[in-house]
Amino acid sequence: MARSAVTYTCQSCGTQHNKWTGKCGDCGGWNTLAEEKALSSAGPSSKSLGKSRGKKIELTSLSAKEAPPERIQSGIGEFDRVLGGGIIPGAAVLIGGDPGIGKSTLLLQVAAAIARNNTKTIYVSGEEARAQIRLRASRLGLEDADVLLAAETSLRDILTTLDAEKPDLVVIDSIQTMWSDAIESAPGSVAQVRACALELTNFAKRRDVAVLLVGHVTKDGQIAGPRVVEHMVDTVLYCEGERGHQFRILRAVKNRFGPADEIGVFEMTGMGMSEVNNPSALFLGDRDERAPGSVVFAGIEGTRPVLVEIQALVAPSALGTSRRAVVGWDTGRLAMVLAVLEARCGVQLGSYDVYLNVAGGLRISEPAADLAVAAALISSYTDTALPARTVVFGEISLSGAIRSVAQSPSRVREAEKLGFDSVFAPSRVGASDDKEATEKSALRIEAFDELRGLVDRFDTGEGA
Ligand code: TYD
Ligand code: MG
Repeated sequence: MARSAVTYTCQSCGTQHNKWTGKCGDCGGWNTLAEEKALSSAGPSSKSLGKSRGKKIELTSLSAKEAPPERIQSGIGEFDRVLGGGIIPGAAVLIGGDPGIGKSTLLLQVAAAIARNNTKTIYVSGEEARAQIRLRASRLGLEDADVLLAAETSLRDILTTLDAEKPDLVVIDSIQTMWSDAIESAPGSVAQVRACALELTNFAKRRDVAVLLVGHVTKDGQIAGPRVVEHMVDTVLYCEGERGHQFRILRAVKNRFGPADEIGVFEMTGMGMSEVNNPSALFLGDRDERAPGSVVFAGIEGTRPVLVEIQALVAPSALGTSRRAVVGWDTGRLAMVLAVLEARCGVQLGSYDVYLNVAGGLRISEPAADLAVAAALISSYTDTALPARTVVFGEISLSGAIRSVAQSPSRVREAEKLGFDSVFAPSRVGASDDKEATEKSALRIEAFDELRGLVDRFDTGEGA
């Protein structure tokens, strides 16, 4: 049965509708529906769908002994680590990030590194001419790398070439510039991005080729064209970082072949992205220990402990409504910590502006940072620095109790390794073996059950 030839696709969430409406019923976006030819009526791969009978699929047992696929390693340790030890042949990996953050630079370096160990690598750019890519390569000192280049946007031509060339790894930079002639809409539109991502993912699976797709991110932080692509691919990496900072963080937000939430840390230098092997040392680089409002948080990013500096500034508000500005942490979480400080500990910050910053451009999502944030806020409010060489971690509950967090021993060990000598931590450490390991360390552990205990260390003027 023929389906209607035209559908309306929401450009923000990707939902398809049969008729045009002003508002997308799914995501609530206004004026986001655009007319598109449906894939099923025009797509080349679906010509015979529905007409002929399917063929029987060969089933195999789950227990079948097959050696795990050998991962393609780039030798760039931080990149391989984010992928869980290298790229799996046949995997489609999406690398998202703001324009100019360094995706093309990193992938050119990765392609060059992989091509070095006899792995056939093709780099297709839809954004830059060959000469521009060569110029970049020579800047990076990679001009004699064995990478095959193409500057092309037609998906049909690219797939035909890839089928003939049989590479092991392909980089597509970027998915938004690719266009498939099966879809009648402009490159970069949701339908195009989705169709191209689908074709390329299928190609990866069919030919057992690793495909790295670059995706630009929209203003509100989603990979443009949009979530649908994230579902299709095996792995989604985000390249984060502040423009003005040299640090770049590559974070796995989805990984079918490895741990999600793993991060790789890079530094953008004149010679491209260079690996940072000891991120904690780098994030704490030029910290002033005696500054009030500065606290070191012992966090866990993926499988690795990372120490970062959290800075707070609490200043009397000049305006009627006080400001709360946050960089690198969740605004809602800050509001919660402020409310607990106010309701449970009597620290009234309502008439103060509060600024919170995670140094180095890292984004923290762990609740374990609560206690560090609270310590930074009180420290700034009372203008008193924390004891020198102290790290802080712990989750704050709404009752004002301090809850234990996972992986306390590795946090403490990392702090010890970097020369810290005391820890503010929850007194209730999760598992019993955890507790033993934590207490074995040479660090002085100051344990808190209640947020009030921390507040009492400072002179807030409340009790006086
Ligand atoms: P690019 O990889 O083009 O970003 P994307 O592909 O994510 O849009 O990175 C461009 C930025 O990186 C640009 O601002 C210049 C900077 N850069 C360096 O600092 N050092 C280098 O060696 C290179 C190649 C780029
Ligand atoms: Mg680019």
